[in-house]
Order: sequence, then structure tokens, then C-alpha cells
Amino acid sequence: MGGRFITIEGTEGGGKSTQMAHVERYLKGRGVEVVLTREPGGTELGEALRELLLGHRHDGMSSDAELLMMFAARAQHLEKVIRPALAEGKWVLCDRFTDASFAYQGGGRGIPFEHIAALEQWVQGDFRPDLVLLFDLPVEVGLARAGARGAADRFEKEQAEFFERVRAAYLERAGAAPERYRIIDASRTIEEVSARVEGALAESFAEIA
Ligand code: TMP
Repeated sequence: MGGRFITIEGTEGGGKSTQMAHVERYLKGRGVEVVLTREPGGTELGEALRELLLGHRHDGMSSDAELLMMFAARAQHLEKVIRPALAEGKWVLCDRFTDASFAYQGGGRGIPFEHIAALEQWVQGDFRPDLVLLFDLPVEVGLARAGARGAADRFEKEQAEFFERVRAAYLERAGAAPERYRIIDASRTIEEVSARVEGALAESFAEIA
């Protein structure tokens, strides 16, 4: 069985972490070897960049610097973790990937999508996720949930309008390539969302259905 690359995306408060754990259990229950990872992060260098990107030491950093650091972390992650795991037949489950760059730096910060697509091509070539699970919910619902979690990082500090643009960019990307994306209504209960996630996995991957 060949490796598969699944990414989990969405705006704040969509329950990504809970569903990551659910996907892991579901796949392991079907005999799949799963590697869990995240972006920005997943390697020592990536985690160091994550600290710079999410912390408040560099508030007001240039949007281009932000984007380039996301892709620097991604290049390291792909070479050291993602591609080797897939080559060994493992399934890689990644909390955010390039769709987040299009959504946050493109939609949110206003960087032209062509610039992001150029970096995507450079760093990834034709490599894309086999499946993107997009946890979608109204921005105000997500922010209310996320707000209950304590200190806000550099992205969580953004205003609702920023996240509206992020959400719109995610939905636009999902609409443009429906075969690779599943939009999951994350405003439902955890059990309902988990059931939809299982349905999406079974539908996408005949080998585990
Ligand atoms: P999270 O994974 O805990 O949600 O935090 C990661 C944050 O980084 C989140 O606010 C989205 C942001 N991000 C980007 O802006 N661009 C990217 O390419 C990635 C991977 C994440």
C-alpha cells in the first residue's frame, strides 16, 4: 500500500486538533502506519521558524518575510519528513500545509496568489496533498471557541475581517479542485464532524473503505 498525504485546514476554532486525533485512530484501526506532523513546524528548523512566526517578538513583520519563512519551513519538512515517510509507504497527516499559505498570506495578507503559486511550484514541484480536509465554520463561531483557549498568537490576534478573507480563500481553493478537497461543516458536534471525516476518508481511499 503506497503512502498518502492528507492535510487538515481551516480557520481558528474549527476543532482541527480533535479531528487529527480522530483521523489517526481511524487510520491506525485500518492497519495504516500514520505519521502526524504540522506546519509551520515538523522539523527542528521548522519549529524554530514557527516560534518566530507565531510569537510576538516580530509583530509587524513583512508579509513577504512571513510567506517566505512558511515556505522555508515547508522545504525542510518535505525533504526531511514528508517525502521520506511517504517513500516508506506511511501515511502522513499534516496539520496545515500550502493551502494555509494561500488562505492566510494570500487571502488574509493580500499577497498575490501567483507569488504563492510560484513558491509552491519551486518548493514542491507537482507534489500536492491527496486529500485536504477543510474544517469550515462561521468566523465568529470559531473565534468565540478559540478565544476560550488563552493567550493569542500573532495570527489569532487578527480581526474578524482577516479571518473572513482567510475563510473565503480556503473555500475558493476547495471549489476550484473539488476532487482533492472535502469541506466539513465544523460548526456541528464533535461526533457529527468525526462521522463526516470518516465518510470523506472512506470515499477518497478505496484501500481503507
Ligand atoms: P495552528 O497550526 O496552531 O493553527 O497555527 C498555525 C498558524 O500559522 C495559523 O494561524 C495559520 C498560520 N499559517 C499561515 O499563516 N500560513 C501557513 O502556510 C501555515 C502552514 C500556517
